[in-house]
Amino acid sequence: MPWVVREAVRDINRAVGRRWHAIDPLLPDPGTLPTGCGEPLVVTGDNGRMAGLGVCVHQHIPPQSLNQTWGAAERFTLVPRLPGQDITTAADLLLTQWRDHLAGVGATRGPDTSASVVWPSMDVTGIQALLRHGLQPLTVIAARTRPNGPPSAPRRAYGVTIRPAGPGDEERVLDLELRLIRYDMHFGGPVWRGATAKLVRDEVRDSLIHPDPWTWLAERNGRAVGLLVAQPPQDAGWIAGMTSKTPAAYLQTMFVEGQERGTGIGAALVRNLHARLDGMGVAVTLLHHSQVNPLSAPFWYRMGYRPLWTSWEARPATALR
Ligand SMILES: CC(C)(COP(=O)(O)OP(=O)(O)OC[C@H]1O[C@@H](n2cnc3c(N)ncnc32)[C@H](O)[C@@H]1OP(=O)(O)O)[C@@H](O)C(=O)NCCC(=O)NCCS
Repeated sequence: MPWVVREAVRDINRAVGRRWHAIDPLLPDPGTLPTGCGEPLVVTGDNGRMAGLGVCVHQHIPPQSLNQTWGAAERFTLVPRLPGQDITTAADLLLTQWRDHLAGVGATRGPDTSASVVWPSMDVTGIQALLRHGLQPLTVIAARTRPNGPPSAPRRAYGVTIRPAGPGDEERVLDLELRLIRYDMHFGGPVWRGATAKLVRDEVRDSLIHPDPWTWLAERNGRAVGLLVAQPPQDAGWIAGMTSKTPAAYLQTMFVEGQERGTGIGAALVRNLHARLDGMGVAVTLLHHSQVNPLSAPFWYRMGYRPLWTSWEARPATALR
């Protein structure tokens, strides 16, 4: 990248940072732009100056990676940097350039492809442009900050015991994990792959051999009816950069069996985790949920979470218009 362009990119990043912090203090400073598939896409303002830019990242997720279960195998992601107050026009121009760019990429034409943009949930200007280009709000990263005051005591659900899971619980944890994936598939996020069950089993086994696997089961009469899996800050570095607060933990899995829902088991599992996180001084806890899952959003917002980032997606990638 030539020097003048590098300077302009730095100025834009700074302006985007100011804008983000005004919109939502939990947003981080914009990170350095990733290396894209080519030169950045540049939006030019009426005055001829750079009014924003975006980098397109192409990713092939191999079948032996569990990541392939969480979305399309060929992923095309736009990383936008748009300063200014009302960014609808700039977003529209950038998305048009991106669509034209992807139209020339052969790998976008298969069925197992997606085009996505991760957008600050509180940044409402620009949403019309995302919708106009055929993108759908699929997944939300929600955040809960540590409340002021003394850590809240965990609350119990009637007739249910919460206990940490260990190596002997592999089948119980696997069963609930796979049921959660099957449930989440209703909302267009995960894709069941040939290797999904084996890869989830490997992950469960690897995690349960740790002395403190951050996995809890809710049991009624000795039967596992609920599961919560979390990552403490030392394992959540992969997502910590999505927020300004530190340290950050990640809530990875939450599932309560169908006929047991609505009786306080989910809340008891979450409060048990929150008591631990608050006691450790964890500043923020992040999680993913499907925007259209009718059970998760009301539950998470009741538990003190709120939207931070929304992932907008066109699947297959050619649905971008
Ligand atoms: C989301 C889920 C874990 C909630 O567990 P649960 O045991 O049913 O929740 P609880 O009974 O503990 O409810 C806790 C609080 O949230 C509220 N709540 C839970 N689900 C709700 C819903 N769909 N709509 C409105 N409020 C809801 C309850 O009323 C309760 O409020 P209260 O504290 O005022 O009494 C459960 O529905 C589930 O497993 N769903 C399928 C898997 C899933 O969606 N997982 C989350 C993926 S991100």
